[in-house]
Amino acid sequence: MRILLLNGPNLNLLGTRAPEVYGATTLREVEELCRSRAEEYGHRLDAYQSNHEGDLIDAIQGARHSHDAIVFNPGAYTHTSYALHDAIEAVGVPAIEIHISNVREREPWRRISRTEPACVYQIFGRGVSGYLAAISHLHYRAAQPPTTLPYGTHDDQVGDLRLPDRPGPHPVAVLVHGGGWTGPFTRDTMDGMAVGLAGTGLATWNIEYRRIPPVGGWRDTMADVVAGLDSLSTFADRYPLDLDNVTVVGHSAGSQLGYFAARRATFGPARFVSLAGMLDLRGLGSGFDDLLSGFLGNDLGTCLDQIDPIGALPLDLPIVVVHGGSDNAVSPVQSRRFTEEALMAGDRVRLVEIDAAGHEDLIDARAPWWDTVAAVCRA
Ligand code: DQA
Repeated sequence: MRILLLNGPNLNLLGTRAPEVYGATTLREVEELCRSRAEEYGHRLDAYQSNHEGDLIDAIQGARHSHDAIVFNPGAYTHTSYALHDAIEAVGVPAIEIHISNVREREPWRRISRTEPACVYQIFGRGVSGYLAAISHLHYRAAQPPTTLPYGTHDDQVGDLRLPDRPGPHPVAVLVHGGGWTGPFTRDTMDGMAVGLAGTGLATWNIEYRRIPPVGGWRDTMADVVAGLDSLSTFADRYPLDLDNVTVVGHSAGSQLGYFAARRATFGPARFVSLAGMLDLRGLGSGFDDLLSGFLGNDLGTCLDQIDPIGALPLDLPIVVVHGGSDNAVSPVQSRRFTEEALMAGDRVRLVEIDAAGHEDLIDARAPWWDTVAAVCRA
């Protein structure tokens, strides 16, 4: 694949422009990082930056014959330029919109994107690592294009379905991404797993859900994950899915969500797998206070117990709990404590600790322990 990395106005100033918002990495460094990420996947990347709308339009039009995909940070033109929207739409080259900052939590005018409707995906608020996420997303999209299906009317009530390349009905892995329930982290973080597991013969249903803000929107978030899981039964007449063999797989905060979805789904999933999961919310430590109060809002004092997996045992489903021993984000103690309590509550639970793995490593289909992770998602 040949990827065009396109940056709009003022992004040439990266590194010195408002580093508290955009970080200290320069544009040249961003371009180099992107080039190496693309090469890791066997793709080529060309980079271009301009402060001028017409130049950007010319670059997009030019990509029609030279590139297979575009990673585009339109800068402030995002919020005003119908012409850039039309250019992306006209050339039909899949484009991912990326913003370094969290445009949804800054001035209200930055929440509007004129260009996003023409793009296949938007990534925001993850710093410059969002550019790398965009390249990974393009890679996995090309490796196996998803069928994106709605399970509700909100933009975030969608999921990506991927089917194995063989006759069904297929066992299903429902993937619930993490990211501390916050806006910037979306289902592309599970793309590698979604494609990797589909390659092992599982259908994957990688669900999106509403996240913070609004502060205290936890009921909607949790209801979405349940609805996303339940929607499988409405797709089963169109796609060859084996609903007697559904595994709910959560990562990080997605484990907390997946646990309750597995409990509440109207059809019964067969098992639950937690990867680097937040399973003991009271034991997370003070570093998580802001996240928890963003998620629960005014209900923090009263509702935490209702949404804490460790306080809602037994699950009455087979459980596998996987954690990296080198996880610096969510301590492996979470998984150890949860496993002890689940055993005491009578659940069938297995703990798998992978010493060398960090937090994100468990969802990386290129990691050395991938076969172990893939195996627990199906049995
Ligand atoms: C930006 C966000 C825009 O609102 C702003 O005008 C930029 C950069 C970002 O990367 O966060 O120039 O696109």
